[in-house]
Amino acid sequence: MTHDPTLSAGKVWLIGAGPGDPDLLTVKAARLIGCADALVYDHLVGEGVMDLARPDARRIYVGKEASNHTLPQEAINRLLVDLAREGLAVVRLKGGDPFIFGRGGEELEILAASGIAFEVVPGVTAAAGCAAYSGFPLTHRDHAQAVTFVTGHLKDGTVNLDWPALSRPCQTIVFYMGIGAAGEICRQMIAHGLPADTPAAVVRNGTLPDQRTLLATLATLPGRIVEADIRPPALIIVGSVVELHEQLNWFERP
Ligand SMILES: C[S@@+](CC[C@H](N)C(=O)[O-])C[C@H]1O[C@@H](n2cnc3c(N)ncnc32)[C@H](O)[C@@H]1O
Repeated sequence: MTHDPTLSAGKVWLIGAGPGDPDLLTVKAARLIGCADALVYDHLVGEGVMDLARPDARRIYVGKEASNHTLPQEAINRLLVDLAREGLAVVRLKGGDPFIFGRGGEELEILAASGIAFEVVPGVTAAAGCAAYSGFPLTHRDHAQAVTFVTGHLKDGTVNLDWPALSRPCQTIVFYMGIGAAGEICRQMIAHGLPADTPAAVVRNGTLPDQRTLLATLATLPGRIVEADIRPPALIIVGSVVELHEQLNWFERP
């Protein structure tokens, strides 16, 4: 039984768990996580977040690293439907925001088609978390009048993006899931007109105690990623705002 009268049974809450630091959860997310009968969660959901769950709640890990799905997406969809039909209050927890490269929409489409009630609670997406904790604003009147979030990981393994649009000046481009394609990303942006010395950075494990930010340029970033052995989860950020890290960094201490 649910421990909160506002939490009705037989329903799913799709919740963004933020980029890692559990203090970045919304108040609503923390309350719902603490009341749920069952929690279905991905690998980027931080341990501190799961600590908020009731001790007797059912916890179901469904994984989902780039190419290592503990449960295929169809099985996750079915699981959510089955748990709700058992009459449970189900929390579906995803890293960051569920509607930003999180396949949250696909899961909700199945719930809607199955007649299961649901709600969505947004979360702090990795770009916002990494920018805040690395000390660079994503927009700034002197640097960037627009920001774009792009996936660097496409279904067929290619990076077939609108390179002319992504390579325009005066904007910040944030690549999610782009570490494996860093060489191609930087090559394409230079080929489409950005100077090779355009500032670029990578942030790994943003908002967590072991967060690491590397500053480079489009020309040097792929080599720096290899040298420093940067692995996912990490973001690539392209644009002059990243240079503000040196002045505005408050979180990472040497
Ligand atoms: C499947 S996407 C999920 C994005 C998530 N829904 C969000 O809004 O942040 C996973 C990618 O997000 C990025 N990411 C997630 N958490 C991160 C973190 N703490 N630090 C850096 N990048 C992160 C990485 O690029 C990772 O490969």
